[in-house]
Amino acid sequence: MTIAITGATGQLGRLVVAKLKGNVPTAIVALARSPTKASDLGVTVREADYAKPETLGPALAGVDALLLISSSELGPRAAKHRNVIEAAKKAGVRRIAYTSILHADTSPLDLAPEHRRTEADVKASGIPFTILRNGWYTENYTGSIGGALAGGAFIGSAGDGRISSAARADYAEATVTVLTGEGHGGKTYELAGDDAYTLFELAAETSRQTGRAISYRNLPEAEYAAALAGFGLPEALAQAIARWDVGASKGALFDNGRQLSALIGRPTTPLAVAVADALKSSVSGMEQPS
Ligand SMILES: NC(=O)c1ccc[n+]([C@@H]2O[C@H](COP(=O)([O-])OP(=O)(O)OC[C@H]3O[C@@H](n4cnc5c(N)ncnc54)[C@H](OP(=O)(O)O)[C@@H]3O)[C@@H](O)[C@H]2O)c1
Repeated sequence: MTIAITGATGQLGRLVVAKLKGNVPTAIVALARSPTKASDLGVTVREADYAKPETLGPALAGVDALLLISSSELGPRAAKHRNVIEAAKKAGVRRIAYTSILHADTSPLDLAPEHRRTEADVKASGIPFTILRNGWYTENYTGSIGGALAGGAFIGSAGDGRISSAARADYAEATVTVLTGEGHGGKTYELAGDDAYTLFELAAETSRQTGRAISYRNLPEAEYAAALAGFGLPEALAQAIARWDVGASKGALFDNGRQLSALIGRPTTPLAVAVADALKSSVSGMEQPS
């Protein structure tokens, strides 16, 4: 079986490729808009740009199963995803999995409508599909630990919102389970962490592990966006992150269905472990939330 992964140069795509490499009977094709960026993956690499349909047919030739990782570009994405889905249909791809957003049908986040459009396009393609509605990555928040240690506080607009995030590695493992296993056709999985936490609890866990008094300062949306822009994030991204945090304050990132741990056959990565991992890497610099 040949499995192709779009967005293979991204953080999730790289984890999926690495986990698939342990799966001996699988031939892996990494799809990348800049193939040179994928040259270190150690698998076959083909050019595939969602925005360049001419690259997609050749990229998908001979592919049995396709993982379509949603584009990371802010702005209209559904048309780009549609290019990939149409090319997959023409190439005779036999299974497609798409990384959507948690509770795409009811989510108040402004990211959801585009994911709903792509989910509909995937279903309309007639290719047997699996929808992976991924919750937030814990790394979106633990990536700010370096900054919190420097400034003495996490900041955000998530209030008391409970966040059921999981590590990217958890989502990657579930993705590989779906791509290589049977019985996932026609399913839509709501994937999220087993244990929900607030950003106050993230700060408390960081304090516990570092022995420092790190607090969580909840800010009005505009103030948080301005702070993120002040850290150097592009204005539109800063505003979007602040908006999504307000969504989190209203429960948009909460889920208690435990479908992710059921798929991977183990508990999702606990917050304490994610914080410890981030503390180990925070010595080498701060990751911006995304
Ligand atoms: N659940 C969450 O918390 C969360 C957070 C952030 C993002 N996301 C979504 O989940 C996806 C995967 O997350 P991630 O952390 O792996 O993101 P990431 O590290 O930013 O990777 C995104 C990937 O998409 C590729 N890409 C973007 N536009 C493309 C195009 N036009 N044609 C082909 N490839 C394109 C990028 O290619 P390049 O390497 O060439 O840029 C990269 O490989 C993101 O793209 C985004 O849709 C989810």
